[in-house]
Amino acid sequence: MLKYQYLLTHDGVFLPTLAIIGTQWGDEGKGKITDYLAEGADMVVRYQGGANAGHTIKVGDEVIALHLLPSGMVRPGVISVIGNGVVVDCEAMGKEIEGLVRSGRSADGLRISDRANIVLPYHRALDGAEERARGNKGVGTTGRGIGPCYSDKMARSGIRMGDLLDEEYLRERLDTVLPIKERLADSLGEPLNIDRDELVRKLLEYGRTYRDKIVDSSVLIYDAIKAGKRVMFEGAQGTMLDIDHGTYPYVTSSNCTSAAICTGAGIPPSMVEQVIGVVKAYTTRVGAGPFPTELKDETGRKLLHQGEEFGTTTGRERRCGWLDLVVLRLAVRLSGLTSLAITKLDVLNDIDPIKVCVAYEIDGERVENFPGNASRLERARPIYEELQGWSSWSEETASLCRRGVEALPEAMRDYISYIERSVGVKAEILSLGKRRDETIDLRPDRWSIA
Ligand code: IMP
Repeated sequence: MLKYQYLLTHDGVFLPTLAIIGTQWGDEGKGKITDYLAEGADMVVRYQGGANAGHTIKVGDEVIALHLLPSGMVRPGVISVIGNGVVVDCEAMGKEIEGLVRSGRSADGLRISDRANIVLPYHRALDGAEERARGNKGVGTTGRGIGPCYSDKMARSGIRMGDLLDEEYLRERLDTVLPIKERLADSLGEPLNIDRDELVRKLLEYGRTYRDKIVDSSVLIYDAIKAGKRVMFEGAQGTMLDIDHGTYPYVTSSNCTSAAICTGAGIPPSMVEQVIGVVKAYTTRVGAGPFPTELKDETGRKLLHQGEEFGTTTGRERRCGWLDLVVLRLAVRLSGLTSLAITKLDVLNDIDPIKVCVAYEIDGERVENFPGNASRLERARPIYEELQGWSSWSEETASLCRRGVEALPEAMRDYISYIERSVGVKAEILSLGKRRDETIDLRPDRWSIA
């Protein structure tokens, strides 16, 4: 309440902003939740990650998979912003835009930060070469060039969207950077073979294509918030893939917690009001790395198939396991979650009992907080509590959802309250299917205040 009043008095304007954060290893169903909430939004902003993300949205019977574009793109009239913290793959972006236009949508609302770094062909090549060089210790990246692009950003060797509008400067930058990349690729035994002039030609073409969309997005977002527009920040990946706080080194190369909104969108912390953490009713992860509650048994296969757990970006099978409250507590703490959106509750139908991990046992000791060291984590054995499962329902899920939370099976309601009590955050959105109408929304209607 205090924060709310403060926000009301900030320059005399109410700041109706909302952020959506993945609380696990990505793939929590953020695409659906973002799309669902985008209905009331004026602007949707991506602020980290790149085309490694996979956000699946179901509109009626149509399934739309977005990787780089903000989910706002499927809503007419919404301004969709790719913030400076995102790494932009212009080729992937072009294909996604084409797909949307083919489905009768428009890209008019898209804006891209002039400061966003660009994923170049050598980033993709180096992503693969570095993974191969790691041998069986690979991270299992999506191969989209994300790590090498963010590395270049930090090493001050990046090329940014605004550079595409300045041929002389662009050539100068590539003349400096490309030889370094060539030497690196040679040292990994995988030479690049990139034609510099051809690359410049292509990049300048992107510059011409996106000229009208390349903007100072920090100003755009800041002004929109100050004008009382409803701005939503759409996180990609999840807390456990965060470069600082996740299961390092088996993580992505950006920060995935709410703190990244400030740097990746160029706005101050005081402008982030609600933070909704999206949590799948169980856990999945793609790629390598520790996963304490992983199930390699029949129940794991059941979650895989009932949950259709195949990667949106790579098509890989996701590893499946029980819900891990050690992970969720970390997400609550790091991102200051103000509410939860629990997704895929229906996938747990007909699984009884349901287990929930409440702590780990590592080297004979009970551990409540997520350890920072991957090898320690490899030795973590989950300590479970068991909850009663529930049976599937016969009526249509959308009609069940319309009847509200009271219509849900009692054991499912108990499961939800158990999660809320365990992490001290309320679940305000419950998702029981892919479609927009297979959702129960318990939020007090904050968007309409604007
Ligand atoms: P990268 O982001 O492609 O470098 O991959 C690093 C790790 O993050 C790998 O384990 C990927 O599978 C994982 N990852 C990246 N993006 C996503 C996502 O959107 N969902 C789930 N996992 C992801």
